[in-house]
Amino acid sequence: MMTLTTALTWLTLAATSSAQFRYKHTQYETSPPVYPTPNITGAGGWDDALEKSRVFLSQLSLEEKSQMVTGTPGPCVGNIAPIPHLNFSGLCLQDGPLAIRQAVYASVFPAQLTAAASWDRELTRARGVQIAQEFKGKGSHVILGPVVGPIGRSPFGGRNWEGFSPDAYLSGVLVEETVLGMQSAGVQACTKHYIGNEQEIQRNPSTVNGTTVEAISSNIDDKTMHETYLWPFANALHAGTASIMCSYNRINGSYGCQNSKSLNGLLKEELGFQGYVMSDWSAVHTGVASIDAGLDMNMPGGIGFSTGSPSYWGPNLTTAMTNGTLDVSRLDDAILRIMTPYYFLNQDVGYPGVDRSTVPMSFYSRDNYQHEFALTEVVDVRDDHAKLIRQLGAAGTVLLKNTNNTLPLKKPMNIGVFGNDASDLTVGQYSLSGAAGNIFEGNYAMGTLPVGGGSGTGRYSYIVSPLEAIKTQGRSFGALVQYVTDNDIIAAGGLSVLQPSPPDVCVVFLKSWASEGDDRASLIAEWNSTLVVEQTAKVCPNTIVVLHGAAPHVLPWKDNANVTAILAAHMPGQETGNSIVDILWGALNPSGKLPYTIANEESDYAKLLINSTELLESTDPDIWQDDFTEGNLIDYKEFDAKNKSVAYEFGFGLSYTTFELSEIKTSVAVSNASRVPSSSAKIVPGGNVELWEALATVSATVTNTGGVDGATVPQLYITLPAEAGETQNVRALRGFDKVELAAGESATVEFTLQRRDLSYWDVGAQTWRLPEAAIGVDVGFSSRDLKLNSELSI
Ligand SMILES: *[C@@H]1O[C@H](CO)[C@@H](O)[C@H](O)[C@H]1NC(C)=O
Ligand SMILES: *[C@@H]1O[C@H](CO)[C@@H](O)[C@H](O)[C@H]1NC(C)=O
Ligand SMILES: *[C@@H]1O[C@H](CO)[C@@H](O)[C@H](O)[C@H]1NC(C)=O
Ligand SMILES: *[C@@H]1O[C@H](CO)[C@@H](O)[C@H](O)[C@H]1NC(C)=O
Ligand SMILES: *[C@@H]1O[C@H](CO)[C@@H](O)[C@H](O)[C@H]1NC(C)=O
Ligand SMILES: *[C@@H]1O[C@H](CO)[C@@H](O)[C@H](O)[C@H]1NC(C)=O
Ligand SMILES: *[C@@H]1O[C@H](CO)[C@@H](O)[C@H](O)[C@H]1NC(C)=O
Ligand SMILES: *[C@@H]1O[C@H](CO)[C@@H](O)[C@H](O)[C@H]1NC(C)=O
Ligand SMILES: *[C@@H]1O[C@H](CO)[C@@H](O)[C@H](O)[C@H]1NC(C)=O
Ligand SMILES: *[C@@H]1O[C@H](CO)[C@@H](O)[C@H](O)[C@H]1NC(C)=O
Ligand SMILES: *[C@@H]1O[C@H](CO)[C@@H](O)[C@H](O)[C@H]1NC(C)=O
Ligand SMILES: *[C@@H]1O[C@H](CO)[C@@H](O)[C@H](O)[C@H]1NC(C)=O
Repeated sequence: MMTLTTALTWLTLAATSSAQFRYKHTQYETSPPVYPTPNITGAGGWDDALEKSRVFLSQLSLEEKSQMVTGTPGPCVGNIAPIPHLNFSGLCLQDGPLAIRQAVYASVFPAQLTAAASWDRELTRARGVQIAQEFKGKGSHVILGPVVGPIGRSPFGGRNWEGFSPDAYLSGVLVEETVLGMQSAGVQACTKHYIGNEQEIQRNPSTVNGTTVEAISSNIDDKTMHETYLWPFANALHAGTASIMCSYNRINGSYGCQNSKSLNGLLKEELGFQGYVMSDWSAVHTGVASIDAGLDMNMPGGIGFSTGSPSYWGPNLTTAMTNGTLDVSRLDDAILRIMTPYYFLNQDVGYPGVDRSTVPMSFYSRDNYQHEFALTEVVDVRDDHAKLIRQLGAAGTVLLKNTNNTLPLKKPMNIGVFGNDASDLTVGQYSLSGAAGNIFEGNYAMGTLPVGGGSGTGRYSYIVSPLEAIKTQGRSFGALVQYVTDNDIIAAGGLSVLQPSPPDVCVVFLKSWASEGDDRASLIAEWNSTLVVEQTAKVCPNTIVVLHGAAPHVLPWKDNANVTAILAAHMPGQETGNSIVDILWGALNPSGKLPYTIANEESDYAKLLINSTELLESTDPDIWQDDFTEGNLIDYKEFDAKNKSVAYEFGFGLSYTTFELSEIKTSVAVSNASRVPSSSAKIVPGGNVELWEALATVSATVTNTGGVDGATVPQLYITLPAEAGETQNVRALRGFDKVELAAGESATVEFTLQRRDLSYWDVGAQTWRLPEAAIGVDVGFSSRDLKLNSELSI
């Protein structure tokens, strides 16, 4: 429904935007207008906080209102100015999803990729809590994370590691744990990037020969939007995320931070979002148009990143309200949405001041602040967080191959360590800035890669490198540790220096850089990795390969008989060396599972990345178009739909013990449930409240049948009948549980299936619908190891 005023506003905007953009793409229409923005209601338990916000709002002048929604230069990555007469000390927003980046004496946690590979709800929750404790200690109110966009549609996506998994369900469960963990520590989560931000290339507009070429348009049909991309965002809302960051890309031709369908329609109306939408940095391209489309906060405020950079918002919103172009009630709603989570999390009471160590690191203006920010002395917020970091780093390591039980190691007296990912860094402890001054450069040759680069990186207070940890371990029983970490030397056959040779075991460390700002050009580990493995295996018949960094990797050497073990070790954070030693020597039995598919060859993946020289050189403003025609069939769903063989499937991971599954039982909690949720049911954050109700349970017995204690992850997959649509009636994960079992022990795992889990999106009726026919149910240890099979008739 459009009210008259907003309808008129929309017409004005439409005229502006059609002059600016040309919509000529045939397959997708333009994004449909959805106005006005629904007002905050306080649903989901925020009523009291909303009342406090109203009192706050009632004391603001028009200028202060504009200031409350517009970022300003200050000590943090993003800053909302203080209002001293209201005792409001402002808001400090900091990167990012795995560490408070602009800080010293802070921890660098494992990336979300590692959390996903752990499939461990508890560790993921604990990670969220501890990250938030560090943000709070440093006086930051808002964490710019977690990430569920990109979800990881393309295996080449440069930021996939900042998110969890291309599986929407796995991402959904883990983002919920993360948001709950972060906010339980009193810090606001900002779940990002909303939505369709699946590649880095052309994520922003560019200038080619003086012509502005618009950002890539992710053209996503309504069904795929709900069943894949929106799914984990709904979980984040359900967990109460304070904030959502809209993305740089366009969706159906309209920019993410001024797309009324995605912001007003999907997020605030359908999913009942009560918090605020914050822009990605400089993703705002209009004034009134963006705020009317549902954007609530403009970051960093100005169009550019420097002090005095003009803003579409700020004082210009005041003018727009005065001259009637902007309805003040929209701005009021934005402020209520910003302040309600602040009060809900009690950030108005005794919140620590901003740590002054952030100031010299702030890239959005280090000085010339237009407002006074209170700063406090430097605090060490690391506490005992290294313990969890070490544990999760190991828990997110996936054992892919273990010929003849070469692992765990016992006391090999001659240990070889190889590869440029083994040793400590030589380029400084921070991979945001590179030698050439490009803020997104990195990809250094020498040194281990504990996490990726860009705004989602962290500044290490120390790193335990793999080489250092193995030396420490070897010394504890008197082993010889020989190492060559220069890949050029290894690739050129330089292992003749070893003596005695061959070592009892050779551990090769490989890496793949990834960072915000670019996508991956190859899925093969970098720096001559194939030659490095082959040359090592040539002299060493017991070669173990450890992969760090971006995923997936393809593994051209995986069938080499001298490669006896392979570990996908992902991005473990600052304790990376200790984490891998715990796995290699079996202090922790591996229980990580792949949260993505490893194909046999790079070319087996659908690339799903738009890029070419021709596109990069084109001056057609609307040339960057990405049609998500594969629908839900990304990652394992694509391989399964095509029945294509893979190297290691989604959900796969070995252990030092063995497990079996038996006795599947299904039970329907609500018999003859209505096919669709009641349209009169309450909308809570996350959508219709009935979508989150349990309709069925499936249980199975899991037994540790081997000789050592360990953990495994039974997984539940459902197959919807044909009526769900051809990209939805493929196997899809709908349950998992990490279970620790002593040798010989058994346990029952129970999976609870909510209405949404068993439904498909009915585009015509605009609702989730349960199928009429029976739903296939499989339980197993991976997406292709499904021992137990049954059916559910709901
Ligand atoms: C994008 O266009 C498709 C096809 O017209 C439509 O189904 C979908 O709802 C649109 N989504 C948005 C966010 O505009
Ligand atoms: C939001 O609330 C204001 C009053 O504060 C009202 O004028 C406006 O119509 C409401 N908007 C919607 C979409 O309900
Ligand atoms: C601000 O804090 C001071 C000191 O605690 C208090 O006296 C004053 O009433 C507060 N003002 C507002 C507007 O809350
Ligand atoms: C852009 O400019 C370059 C150099 O002036 C020229 O070679 C090229 O043809 C131009 N491209 C287009 C699409 O106009
Ligand atoms: C904001 O308003 C000022 C003064 O009217 C104007 O000079 C400036 O260009 C405006 N900023 C933008 C980004 O439109
Ligand atoms: C109202 O103010 C806004 C912001 O400065 C400006 O873009 C718009 O053109 C003005 N409209 C009128 C009718 O004056
Ligand atoms: C694995 O064990 C078998 C049987 O003992 C032996 O033939 C083979 O050489 C071993 N392979 C490796 C790589 O050690
Ligand atoms: C994108 O295309 C350009 C031009 O062909 C190429 O140089 C670049 O490596 C490509 N990027 C990726 C990530 O494939
Ligand atoms: C690969 O190794 C060769 C030497 O064998 C070296 O010349 C080349 O620079 C290396 N390439 C990379 C990317 O490390
Ligand atoms: C495996 O190791 C053996 C013994 O060192 C060696 O003879 C053989 O060539 C190696 N195989 C490969 C494929 O490197
Ligand atoms: C899938 O492929 C396997 C062998 O690769 C074959 O045995 C099986 O029949 C195929 N299944 C379908 C459904 O095509
Ligand atoms: C199931 O519900 C429908 C409508 O709610 C009703 O018509 C039907 O009789 C019910 N069937 C059974 C077996 O209860």
